[in-house]
Amino acid sequence: MSSTETNPIARSVVSTQSEMTEIILPNDANTLGNLLGGRLMHFIDLTGAMAAFRHTRSHVVTAAMDHIDFIQPVHVGDLLILKSSVNRAFNTSLEVGVKVWVEHPQTGVLLHVASAYLVFVAVDERGRRLRVPALLPETPNEIRRFADALRRREHREAEAARRKQERREQTGHGSETAAH
Ligand SMILES: CC(C)(COP(=O)(O)OP(=O)(O)OC[C@H]1O[C@@H](n2cnc3c(N)ncnc32)[C@H](O)[C@@H]1OP(=O)(O)O)[C@@H](O)C(=O)NCCC(=O)NCCS
Repeated sequence: MSSTETNPIARSVVSTQSEMTEIILPNDANTLGNLLGGRLMHFIDLTGAMAAFRHTRSHVVTAAMDHIDFIQPVHVGDLLILKSSVNRAFNTSLEVGVKVWVEHPQTGVLLHVASAYLVFVAVDERGRRLRVPALLPETPNEIRRFADALRRREHREAEAARRKQERREQTGHGSETAAH
């Protein structure tokens, strides 16, 4: 797939910030009345895509969603609050952070439920990759997330290379077995 130049400009983190609030209904829940993990991942993907879209102003596809811990159960009737922003832009991809809270319906108390990092890739209508605008981190927190995003990208790349090598070894072993 070839990437296409789009004459990108640099954007601030604030300009990418996105938020979604959902009331949890029975259709979102398991038989205990707790929000399904897959449904939570769907909400995370959508909120992440909003920040990626605000940054790129193009179509985006999800390339990866990192490890998620489900810290607290979320119940039917709770309000789920998701916030996202871009942590760092690379060439055609960008990392978005999503943080999720649950708001207790009676007390209004907020509890942290989950956090996730997602990688989106910008593409045009024909699926060709597009160069993304640079991100300009300004506050100390934005600068810290910007630096952490590079470390996570290096970790993802190392993991991908390790898995590729593992597959190569398994394939090699598989054909050896088949030959004997
Ligand atoms: C994501 C996708 C566009 C990558 O395309 P590709 O031709 O494999 O591109 P490359 O391997 O050259 O990588 C392109 C960019 O994506 C990043 N990328 C690709 N796979 C990635 C992964 N698994 N995790 C993190 N980043 C990834 C690369 O680091 C690169 O970033 P950069 O341009 O900023 O340096 C392609 O794999 C795709 O279309 N996947 C399906 C997307 C989709 O349908 N998502 C919904 C799934 S339910």
